[in-house]
Amino acid sequence: MKTILDFQDKKNKNEKITMVTCYDYTFARILAESDVDCLLVGDSLSNTMLGHPTTLSATTNIMAMYAGAVARGAGDKKLVIADLPFMSYRKGITATMTAAEKVMRSGVHAVKLEGGEGNYAMVKHMVGSGVPVMGHLGLTPQSVNQLGGFKVQGRDEKAQKKIMEEALRLQDAGAFSVVLECVPSHLAKEITAALDIPTIGIGAGSDTSGQVLVLQDLLGMNPGFKPKFVKTFYNGFENLKDAFNTYHEEVTGGQFPSAKESYS
Ligand code: KIV
Repeated sequence: MKTILDFQDKKNKNEKITMVTCYDYTFARILAESDVDCLLVGDSLSNTMLGHPTTLSATTNIMAMYAGAVARGAGDKKLVIADLPFMSYRKGITATMTAAEKVMRSGVHAVKLEGGEGNYAMVKHMVGSGVPVMGHLGLTPQSVNQLGGFKVQGRDEKAQKKIMEEALRLQDAGAFSVVLECVPSHLAKEITAALDIPTIGIGAGSDTSGQVLVLQDLLGMNPGFKPKFVKTFYNGFENLKDAFNTYHEEVTGGQFPSAKESYS
């Protein structure tokens, strides 16, 4: 999948979309050769790459640096979307456009931002300026302090109505897709049915147009972090640790380097 038109095409054909977060050149090269449809340079890099407790530490410069590495690794093989970080799209149109410009110039194809209320004019202006925008509703980690923690959203009818309304308004503003994070499955299903554009779920059940997972969670590299919605597809932490230990053993035991890895 290379463009946002392919994204829409998948929904139209009722084919599931797969997205994985990616933050560096090396993994982007692997993902570029995989069947995964598209890559998200999430501001979750603040957690996974930089060790912060929330995504609030990501800045536009940080996002642009990581986004550039992923775009170079993905080449022309995958659609790459990057997050606009905390506050970068809440200080007026000029500041928003400067942030979007910086992130887009890194080489990605689209940006993502969190929340509905207060963002519609920004989305419309970006889309009108040639910047494809993905929305993100439900659990919006940049608002963790307002939400009082990383909690499932849309539990009651009023909250569900608000999320549905925001999704429709993001679509009206020109968003090409909406991420739904940690919402009840029935709500994600209803929103997906109500929208023409595709929804991408994480902790939103199986009825969204596609799914996204954080790379480190998918690869089992983050032991101890196992929210209900995460499935690990590889025992990355243990397998990588084993490889490091084998290297250590071979160096200390004299097997590496052998003649094969040495110059005559
Ligand atoms: O930053 C991120 O990784 C995300 C996904 C969880 C959707 O926004």
